Amino acid sequence: MNQPTHETETRGAFAYNDLLEHKTKRSLKVLVACEYSGIVRDAFAARGHDAWSCDLLPTERDGFGVKHYKGDVTNHLREGWDMLIAHPPCTYLSSSGMHWTTRGLRDPKLTEDALDFVRLLLGANVHHICLENPVGCISTRIRKPDQIIQPYQFGEDASKATCLWLKNLPLLTATQFVLPRQVCECGEIYIAQYANISGCPYCGRPVKKSKSRWANQTNSGQNKLAPSETRGLDRAKTYVGIAEAMADQWTLALCSNVDLRGGEPKTKNNQ
Ligand SMILES: C[S@@+](CC[C@H](N)C(=O)[O-])C[C@H]1O[C@@H](n2cnc3c(N)ncnc32)[C@H](O)[C@@H]1O
Repeated sequence: MNQPTHETETRGAFAYNDLLEHKTKRSLKVLVACEYSGIVRDAFAARGHDAWSCDLLPTERDGFGVKHYKGDVTNHLREGWDMLIAHPPCTYLSSSGMHWTTRGLRDPKLTEDALDFVRLLLGANVHHICLENPVGCISTRIRKPDQIIQPYQFGEDASKATCLWLKNLPLLTATQFVLPRQVCECGEIYIAQYANISGCPYCGRPVKKSKSRWANQTNSGQNKLAPSETRGLDRAKTYVGIAEAMADQWTLALCSNVDLRGGEPKTKNNQ
């Protein structure tokens, strides 16, 4: 299992909603690049931001007032955005896909073009940038990510190591840890933390001899999504728990008078 590069702490019962309601000072112009699902866009829009998504595809969550550009995001990068959150395609970048290229079965130019697109997004003239991608060659060819997060740190019963490259944004703080099931070498399954046990209740092997698995994984660690025409896009959708954390935490960090490092709201006297 991939571990986060930075310790991702859980902030417990931090009252984000109360703080957002009472302390938010300004709204941001947010562009969510390469997003057809609308999940991150809607999380920011729900907190009062002027949030737009952009994708070559139409948006999945459509309706009255929905802000979506259908087309190439490179035509929309110079429109005065405060924040850019980008989810560029990982097909030619991720470790899981790179073996086709390294074995000479795929044109390496596809990876070079994908890296150029990432460089273009990271180099956009926007003050706050987050670029998200699975573990892959961006780390070695451009730079290491600032943070690697997991959906199970954000209330989702799923495992998918997700790298974040951040510019002028704080690291995300985990919101809620979802316990995995333990798959023991003996073939039995149990939840160690609930029972507060140090070994498999069936055979006694230590917990470290078992594999941690979440709901999106089979016992052997494969993704459970059945083959379909939309499997790739379905797998690429941002988890709602991560989108909510981005919207909550980055709204607080950039738009409120709450000092996240100290935890206490700044007042006229203690600023
Ligand atoms: C990995 S998926 C990201 C999905 C996203 N996490 C979501 O929840 O919708 C990459 C997306 O980038 C889009 N895309 C690729 N090139 C693009 C471009 N030049 N401009 C805008 N969108 C692009 C694709 O259509 C695809 O939907």
